[in-house]
Amino acid sequence: MRDVLPEEAPAWDRLEGAARRLSRSRGFREIRPVLLEETELFTRSVGEVTDIVEKEMFTLKKGDTSLSLRPEGTAGIARAYLQAGYAKRAPVQKLFTVGPMFRYERPQKGRDRMFTQFDVEVIGTLDPRADVEVVHLAACFFEDLGIEGLEVRLNSMGDGADRDAYRAALRAFLAPKMDRHCDLCRSRFERNVLRVLDCKNPDCQALHEGAPGILDFLSPENRGHFEEVGALLESLGRSVVVDPGIVRGLDYYTRTVFEVHYPALGARSALCGGGRYDHLVRDLGGPDLAAVGFAIGFTPTLLVLGELGLLDDLPESVPEAYVVAADAAGRREALAIAEELRSAGIGATFDLEERGLKAQMKVAGKVGHLLAVLIGEDELARGAVTIKDMVRREQREVPRGELTRAVRAILGSAEPG
Ligand code: HAM
Repeated sequence: MRDVLPEEAPAWDRLEGAARRLSRSRGFREIRPVLLEETELFTRSVGEVTDIVEKEMFTLKKGDTSLSLRPEGTAGIARAYLQAGYAKRAPVQKLFTVGPMFRYERPQKGRDRMFTQFDVEVIGTLDPRADVEVVHLAACFFEDLGIEGLEVRLNSMGDGADRDAYRAALRAFLAPKMDRHCDLCRSRFERNVLRVLDCKNPDCQALHEGAPGILDFLSPENRGHFEEVGALLESLGRSVVVDPGIVRGLDYYTRTVFEVHYPALGARSALCGGGRYDHLVRDLGGPDLAAVGFAIGFTPTLLVLGELGLLDDLPESVPEAYVVAADAAGRREALAIAEELRSAGIGATFDLEERGLKAQMKVAGKVGHLLAVLIGEDELARGAVTIKDMVRREQREVPRGELTRAVRAILGSAEPG
């Protein structure tokens, strides 16, 4: 688990800012569900036979209750949706959240045990335009950050009978080759055969060549939905790759599934995963309402931004003014001056280390404050302050009563940036 230090905060601001701006401009509303849920919520939704539920949850017992830190956001959002009564009073909800998730994963590049996801969900509709909204939004997020060269991979997992028929065909194809697969594949073959296709081992992947594709098994209705989603994405100029290998690692998926990859990252190149979960709301005790969404991981996104040099020189937010004081009396006045500027809407801070005047001025320049307000012994005696414009490197003394007006004048004419 990693802390986000102040030096890294500008990058996080950038990601969170883009997430909020893009979501709100498309009519998504923010939801902030709790971080701890009853473990059973995840067993019932993500699925008992998944890596997440079998191995990766941080679970604690309190009395008879088993609680888990959320390993993903969708289940909790669906639970909150039902609990808030939206299913009855306003079934179509466009929701988003940005927050931490927890998975006890093997430490590796691009994966953390506490990580942040930007999670988007449209609950209450099977309209293919909802699928398109979420796929397009995910891609726009990365473009907004300046990341190019991404691949949107799209597939359909079908639903009900067509999925069953596909499972049977896949089993028949894989059965004769199972002794050449890895242990994980063999266990998946028994318990959740679709997940065999998700193996990252190149030897196993080679054995999957020629495997039947789920798209050939789709019912006319599900095929129609898939084709409509593809056609609508094309009409927006969004190119996608149809990839029957996208099977996703969570059980709730139906019909459309997709991932956004940055291929240069290698085996763990997925920055985003998502799709439809048309029975989750029903499985959690609500009506049978369709839904679709995605989650983007900040860890791999930051990795890509770093590799592309897009995190260099991100400015940290710094208050405009730095108040510099010469002695104890000045330091008392510094507090009053900073507070006066702040009430006028001007950011201000001051030295807390009793440094000398010169050292304080050096700090003001290095940190990047736009101006310094100096209170030396003379200024204090005269009821004045000296204001130094750090950009133009000019300074002048003004009466104490004119401080705010003079600072405003400088800031009004300060060079942008
Ligand atoms: P997921 O594919 O498990 O889907 O996760 C989505 C994204 O979260 C991944 O593509 C990856 O970028 C990031 N991620 C996953 N695990 C980690 C980790 N340990 N460290 C850093 N980043 C990670 C879901 O979570 C679904 N709830 C997505 C969804 C929403 N489907 C429908 N609605």
